[in-house]
Order: sequence, then structure tokens, then C-alpha cells
Amino acid sequence: MKEKTFILLKPDAVKRKLIGKIIKRFEDRGFEIVEMKMLTLSREMAEEFYKIHKGKEFYERLIEFMTSGRIVVMVVEGENAISAVRKMIGKTNPAEAEPGTIRGDFALSTPDNIIHASDSKESVEREIKMFFGD
Ligand code: TYD
Repeated sequence: MKEKTFILLKPDAVKRKLIGKIIKRFEDRGFEIVEMKMLTLSREMAEEFYKIHKGKEFYERLIEFMTSGRIVVMVVEGENAISAVRKMIGKTNPAEAEPGTIRGDFALSTPDNIIHASDSKESVEREIKMFFGD
């Protein structure tokens, strides 16, 4: 089933010049990039994006990190995009992420774990709306 998912390359990915390498993985896999842009998150947007984590011990560091530089947001389309892309990015804690996954190959810690991808149909809808409108 062809579906869309939302991907965000975090400030560490941009600073470390990994944008091309990461996008190549999705294109090589067969996904099509149907929307893409670069921006810097305001504190307000970062807080909205990660509102489910408000109050958690890692929240402040996460918001600071997410607003620390430019990010790239994109919508990709392909077969089972939501679950396939989540598998490609690997576990949240990169120290535990499998080699071969994006986090497992490019990161070792949180919150600087390179990439975000939506984990459900509901979050795809919410996140695409946030960055690209209806
Ligand atoms: P979460 O939505 O749980 O994971 P994922 O990014 O894999 O969907 O967490 C959002 C981000 O919050 C995560 O990418 C990095 C940060 N984070 C921490 O810094 N420490 C933590 O213990 C957790 C769970 C997340």
C-alpha cells in the first residue's frame, strides 16, 4: 500500500553535512520525495512538535537542541512508508540502534540522534500539516 510519511533531519544532521547521504538512502530504497524544505525551528514550533514530551526530564535539552540550527523537513511516499522508514531510522537511543540503520550508522547519543520520522498515520497527518499545511 502506497502511503506518505514525514521525515525531519535534525540540526546535527545538517551541521555534520549528512543531508545528501541520508536522502540517498531513502531514494535508493525506492521512496519518492514529494515535499521538502529547510528551516530553523522557533521555540514555539519545537514545543508544539514535541508537546507529548513536555515535563519529561529530557524535554528542555531536546527543545534547545531542536532549535540550535537549521533542519530539513520532507514528505516521502512509497509502499508501507511509515513502518519501513521507522525501521530504516533505527531505535531512538542510537547506542542501541542496529548498524545499517541511520541512527545506528551516524549517531551515538540523544537528543542528537540525527533524524525523526512519524510513527503512525495520526502523527503523519499532524506533522505534515505543521510544516506543509493542508
Ligand atoms: P521519541 O518520540 O520517544 O522517539 P523517536 O524520535 O524515536 O520517535 O523521542 C523524541 C526525541 O526525544 C528523541 O528522538 C530524542 C529525544 N529523547 C531524549 O533525548 N531522551 C530520551 O530518553 C527519549 C525517550 C527521547
